[in-house]
Amino acid sequence: MLAVTAAIALPILLIKSPTETTQGFSGTYWNVTGVTYAGNGTRGTALNQLAAPTGLFITSNDTLYISDSGNWRVVAYLPNAASGSIVAGTGVGGTSLTRLASSGIRYISVEANENIYISDTYNERVVRWASGGSTGVIVAGNGTGGSSLNQLDYPYGLWVDSSLNVFVSEYQNYRITKWVPGASVGVVVAGISGSSGSTTNLLSGPTGLYYDEANQNLYISNTGSTNTVMKWRVGDSNGTIVAGLAGSSGSSSSQLNTPTGIILDQWQNIYVNDRANSRIQLFCNGSSTGVTIAGNGAGGSSLSSPYDIKLDSQYNLYVVENTAHRVTKFAKL
Ligand SMILES: *[C@@H]1O[C@H](CO)[C@@H](O)[C@H](O)[C@H]1NC(C)=O
Ligand SMILES: *[C@@H]1O[C@H](CO)[C@@H](O)[C@H](O)[C@H]1NC(C)=O
Ligand SMILES: *[C@@H]1O[C@H](CO)[C@@H](O)[C@H](O)[C@H]1NC(C)=O
Ligand SMILES: *[C@@H]1O[C@H](CO)[C@@H](O)[C@H](O)[C@H]1NC(C)=O
Ligand SMILES: *[C@@H]1O[C@H](CO)[C@@H](O)[C@H](O)[C@H]1NC(C)=O
Ligand SMILES: *[C@@H]1O[C@H](CO)[C@@H](O)[C@H](O)[C@H]1NC(C)=O
Repeated sequence: MLAVTAAIALPILLIKSPTETTQGFSGTYWNVTGVTYAGNGTRGTALNQLAAPTGLFITSNDTLYISDSGNWRVVAYLPNAASGSIVAGTGVGGTSLTRLASSGIRYISVEANENIYISDTYNERVVRWASGGSTGVIVAGNGTGGSSLNQLDYPYGLWVDSSLNVFVSEYQNYRITKWVPGASVGVVVAGISGSSGSTTNLLSGPTGLYYDEANQNLYISNTGSTNTVMKWRVGDSNGTIVAGLAGSSGSSSSQLNTPTGIILDQWQNIYVNDRANSRIQLFCNGSSTGVTIAGNGAGGSSLSSPYDIKLDSQYNLYVVENTAHRVTKFAKL
């Protein structure tokens, strides 16, 4: 009897530097032992501490912005700084525009000029804080959760494109909306408002959002029961699954369980924060088989409720650990 050998798509990314693109997959490419990079692991309000952090953004000069959700603030850490500075929020939860939601915020995005966009999730709005500003302004939603086009319902992931259009993944409306600057209503660009499911025309609890602007493709994690990552061209009525098995959660290399934050690198490899599996999965461009690069199964540090991930300019990986109150760095080898 002949064994059928599956053709394995060699990960083009598993390289040590952008010049080594001809190398195949031959080992570990990130240090699986993480180091605490922001927060000190004890929940608290001091500037070297975080409280239930949820989101992360890294600017081109490697400044980390962190949604310090349980402290009702966003903090910025300059490269290798021991403590952060408060760049949005007052440290008190509330609904006024100087405050962030008492029950929590999720993902953030930062423009090149360091203006900050925040999913002020439980306030049912996205706010923009100008760099150095002391108050937010609403750029999406009207502050009351709902499915009308002037509303958001549980805004989670965010992407701000080069024209400052804001894309929002709405966890409870099962849709992605696009808000042009100054607009008071959004346009649905993926999913069907109010309908959740596993078919390719629907989203299910969308959270993580990445936009490949050159190709107009949104990448969306379906955190709900679908447990997939989809690629969806803006305005299309269907997407395609690029990671996970629709409707089947699990911990095999082709499955995900509660995927949240996602990022792509310049080779279009997809990194997925596989939250309930406490691991970070890498799906090389075109491969439906994930490789665990951090957390459960990688053989190094364990992760405590990972919420979001980003890469810095050197491809080092950073993971927000919500219940360990820190951001952990896994160095690119
Ligand atoms: C991985 O990181 C740990 C902790 O910083 C360090 O002790 C170890 O030498 C690193 N391994 C490699 C291969 O760089
Ligand atoms: C973290 O920092 C706080 C405030 O500076 C301090 O009280 C606490 O003991 C520190 N925790 C650890 C584990 O170092
Ligand atoms: C990063 O760049 C921004 C402008 O793009 C600048 O305001 C900020 O000071 C820079 N940060 C560092 C650490 O160089
Ligand atoms: C937001 O819009 C909805 C639908 O138009 C409306 O019912 C609600 O009162 C508005 N909320 C606020 C705070 O204006
Ligand atoms: C889009 O999804 C719907 C629902 O599953 C399906 O009937 C339809 O054939 C799909 N269209 C395309 C172009 O894939
Ligand atoms: C990713 O793969 C697709 C086809 O699978 C290919 O067209 C595209 O060029 C690849 N992207 C990169 C950046 O290599």
